[in-house]
Amino acid sequence: MAVNQTREQWGSKLGFILAATGSAVGLGNLWKFPYITGENGGGIFVLIYLVCIAVVGIPVFLAEVMIGRATQSSPVVAFDKLSNASKTNWNFVGWIGVFSGFIILSYYSVVAGWALNYTLMSISHFFDTLSPDKISQTFDVLYASGDINVFWHAVFMLLTVGVVYGGIKGGIEKWSRILMPLLLGILVVLFFYAMTLDGFGRSFKFLFYPDVSKLKPSGVLEALGHAFFTLSLGMGAIITYGSYLSKKEDLVKTSVIIAVLDTAVAIIATLVLFPIIFTFGYEPQAGPGLLFKTLPIIFSQIPGGMILSIIFFLLVVFAALTSGMSLLEVVSANFIDLLGWGRKKAVLIMGSIIFIIGIPSALSGSGAIFKNWEVIYGINFFDTVDYLASNWLLPIGGLLIAVFTGWFMDRRVRENEFMTGTSFGRGYKYWLFLIRFVAPVAVFIIVLQRVGFINIDKLFSW
Ligand code: TRP
Repeated sequence: MAVNQTREQWGSKLGFILAATGSAVGLGNLWKFPYITGENGGGIFVLIYLVCIAVVGIPVFLAEVMIGRATQSSPVVAFDKLSNASKTNWNFVGWIGVFSGFIILSYYSVVAGWALNYTLMSISHFFDTLSPDKISQTFDVLYASGDINVFWHAVFMLLTVGVVYGGIKGGIEKWSRILMPLLLGILVVLFFYAMTLDGFGRSFKFLFYPDVSKLKPSGVLEALGHAFFTLSLGMGAIITYGSYLSKKEDLVKTSVIIAVLDTAVAIIATLVLFPIIFTFGYEPQAGPGLLFKTLPIIFSQIPGGMILSIIFFLLVVFAALTSGMSLLEVVSANFIDLLGWGRKKAVLIMGSIIFIIGIPSALSGSGAIFKNWEVIYGINFFDTVDYLASNWLLPIGGLLIAVFTGWFMDRRVRENEFMTGTSFGRGYKYWLFLIRFVAPVAVFIIVLQRVGFINIDKLFSW
C-alpha cells in the first residue's frame, strides 16, 4: 500500500457540498425520477421515496462519508485500513465499487452523449421542421447509429477526463462551483416557465396528493432502489469524496443538506417536465423515452421552444458531467492510493479503459457488435450492463457498506467520526439503529426481489 503523501483536500466546505451534490444530481434526477414517478402513480410514490431517502438514503450516505473521512482513502484502501478491527478483510467491498465505477460510467457516458447530441440538434433548429412522428423516430435512428454514439461517448469521456485530470480542488471542485450554480439557475428558470402553463396545477396535484390505491409494493422497492442510485450510494463514490474532507466538518448536517438538495432537484425537475407534458396532451407514463422522445416534440411546438430545448439539454449535460466526474474519480483514486500512481497517469489510463468498455454499449443499438447478444441474453448489451450495475452491484455494495459500518467497524472510530464537529450527537443511536437494521433489511429485500427470489406484488397481492 502506498504511503499517503500529502493528500488533496477540498478547498472549502461549500466546495465539497457542491461536488457531492453534483455527483448525486444526474440522469437519475432528470431522466429517471420523473418517468418512474409517472409510471408509479405520482404522489404516493413521491411520499414513499421521501421516506426511503430519510431512513435509508441519508444513513448510508453518512456511513460512506464517515468511512472516507476516517481513513482519508478511497474504498479499497479504506476497507483495508478499517478491517484490522474485524479480522476479516472487507476490501472486496471496495473492489466491487471500483468495478461498478467502470461499468456504470461506461454506459452513463453513452446516455450523456445523447444529451450532448440533443443539445446540438436543438441549436441546429432541427426540431422546427419535423413532424412529431419524425422527431420521436429520430431517437430510434440515433440509437441505431453506432458511429454517432461512439462519437458522443468519446466527447463526454474527454470532458470528464479533462475535469478529473485537474485534481480535487483544481478540477472537480472548480468545475462543480461553475456547473452546479448554472444547473440550479437553469432549473429555476425552467420552473418559472412551467408555472405559467395550464398543466402546472394538475402536475402539482399529481405529485403531492397521494392516492393510496395506486400503490404497488414493487413501487416501494423501486423507490428504495432509486434512493440509492440518486444519492450515488453503494459503490464508494461518497467514500472517495469524503476522503478529501478535513476533520472539522459536521458530517451529519452536510449529509442532510446534500440529500435535501438532491431530492429538491428531482422534484423540481418533475414539476418542470409534467406541466409541459400535461399541457400539450401527453401522458406522464411515457417511460424512459420521456426525455428524448416526448419532450423534443413538445419543444418543437411551443414558442421559444428552441431556446428552452437548448437550455434543457444543457442542464442534462451538466448534471451528467458532475456525476461522471465522481465515477471516474472513484476508479482513478483507487490506483492513486493503492499503487502510488500519479493523478494524471491514473486518470488518462482509467478514462481510456472506460471509453473502450463503453464502446459495445454505444454500438449496442446498431447491432455492429455482439449481434446476437439480445437473442442469447434477452436484453441488449447496453441494457445488460445497466441491469447488472443497478440491480446487482449497487444494492449489494450498499448492503455490505451498511453491514460493515453497523456491525464490523471499530466502535470508537465510528462514534468519533459521527460526533466530531456535529451538534447532532444525540442522533447517533437512531442512526445506528437505521444502519444496523433498517438499511440492511430493506436492501436485502430489494436484492431478493431483483433477483426474482420473491415477487413482492404477489406476496402482498394488492
Ligand atoms: N447519482 C447519479 C444520478 O442520479 C448517478 C451516479 C453518479 C451514481 N455516481 C454514482 C450512482 C455512484 C451510483 C453510484 O444520476
